[in-house]
Amino acid sequence: MIDRTKNEEFEKILEMIDITKPAPAEEPQRQYYFIAKAREYVAEKVREAGRPLTFCVTTFGCQMNARDSEKLTGILEQIGYQEEADEEKADFVIYNTCTVRENANQRVYGRIGQLNRVKRQNPHMLVGLCGCMMQETAVVEKLKKSYRFVDLIFGTHNIYKFAELIVTRMESERMVIDIWKDTDKIVEDLPSERKFSFKSGVNIMFGCNNFCSYCIVPYVRGRERSRSPKDIIREIEELVSDGVVEIMLLGQNVNSYGKTLDVPMSFAELLQEIEKIEGLERIRFMTSHPKDLSDELIEVMGNSKKICKHLHLPFQSGSTRILDQMNRRYTKEHYLGLVDKIRAAVPDISLTTDIIVGFPGETEEDFLETLDVVRKVRYDSAFTFIYSKRTGTPAAAMEEQTPEAVVKDRFNRLLSEVQKISSEVCSVYANTVQGVLVEGVNDHDGSLMTGRMSNNLLVHFPGDESLIGKIIDVELKECKGFYYIGEMVKK
Ligand code: 5AD
Ligand code: SF4
Repeated sequence: MIDRTKNEEFEKILEMIDITKPAPAEEPQRQYYFIAKAREYVAEKVREAGRPLTFCVTTFGCQMNARDSEKLTGILEQIGYQEEADEEKADFVIYNTCTVRENANQRVYGRIGQLNRVKRQNPHMLVGLCGCMMQETAVVEKLKKSYRFVDLIFGTHNIYKFAELIVTRMESERMVIDIWKDTDKIVEDLPSERKFSFKSGVNIMFGCNNFCSYCIVPYVRGRERSRSPKDIIREIEELVSDGVVEIMLLGQNVNSYGKTLDVPMSFAELLQEIEKIEGLERIRFMTSHPKDLSDELIEVMGNSKKICKHLHLPFQSGSTRILDQMNRRYTKEHYLGLVDKIRAAVPDISLTTDIIVGFPGETEEDFLETLDVVRKVRYDSAFTFIYSKRTGTPAAAMEEQTPEAVVKDRFNRLLSEVQKISSEVCSVYANTVQGVLVEGVNDHDGSLMTGRMSNNLLVHFPGDESLIGKIIDVELKECKGFYYIGEMVKK
């Protein structure tokens, strides 16, 4: 996916397209054709309205969705819409949804309901829904029945077709629904717009084959497929030449990257290739599955100058019995062994994790095993989740769902332990000097800049906007629990 939004070369390609002819069949040329066509339609609407048309994309969920939203934004800007932060004022509203937990779905329904009111005041407004939630048949049925004002519904596999779907909607004036069950198709070289000028997510693979028994992702994101290393490297090189210094390699299970390629390649090998890119300073990746974390990867992390000192390694439960029920395919001991190995290779690594509480049949003993892992590993931070029953997953059919009050109590005990440990762990960097990638002006205090250390901790320090996008040495003066206040080191 190349950042082509402001690219003259791309403009030339679009100018050559004759939209009076039928659309080409091959990609990405087909989408270039629809971008050119949608541009004409939008220009006409702009003339009619006598003002620019605007859009607002709202992202729910994970980093994958955030990256997909950048692709949607790239296409909307290409066809002539301008960004508008206030959703109620926008002419085109998109919700890029998440369905990993039930409460995420409820939030989206609530928001769509409110849009109905806004659309009554602005009937020309377009509403598009996409992302994981749309891959669930029951959701689409409900939308078709009770949310008729929605204009466009598409899923996770056909995001690249966004321009084509917009054209279909503009030509038909009817609700357009395009959901694919699965695909192995990866379309390269479409426009995308980055949220930050200096850092970017880069998809290296899509989908997941793990089928953890609680998780809906394999059903809504489809089978695992990896992008070719050539395309990934080319994208990163272009990002770097455009000012990017930090990339986040994205996949549901990056450790199994490359298994499905014609010429298989390991994730560790890919990292070594990426490390060679001149001008790139930091490499992050997410998410790692413990069962696939190889010795080769640990060694590469230990030797690397660019891979950030941070590993997100979800363990989900400390009980080997529950891990087995979750189909995670590792034991508590294996996980703790991995932590020892990675700490031996990268002593100052920051470890973060995901934990689920209240999986069906979880006993107090199982939960104490989870607390034991938290105490042994001492995470820099942890995302804690209450188990959410997802229809269609094997765990949803398991009996013995744990009573809500018991789950809430365990969740609170876990959270307070996680927070206590993470504030202790965070404080060890006080009075050290760390490289900080400056991300922007502090939200609450305009005299402070905010940036991130290699281990992902936030640092606020006095400075100005000229520092944005640079890696600056900062002395960490005071730990405030989960972030630092620092001072720039004078050269
Ligand atoms: N209930 C609660 N948490 C879940 N996760 C995934 N599925 C569920 C579920 N059904 C959590 C896992 C995963 C993170 C992204 O979301 O911890 O690592
Ligand atoms: Fe879900 Fe497990 Fe795949 Fe992660 S590895 S996306 S938890 S099925």
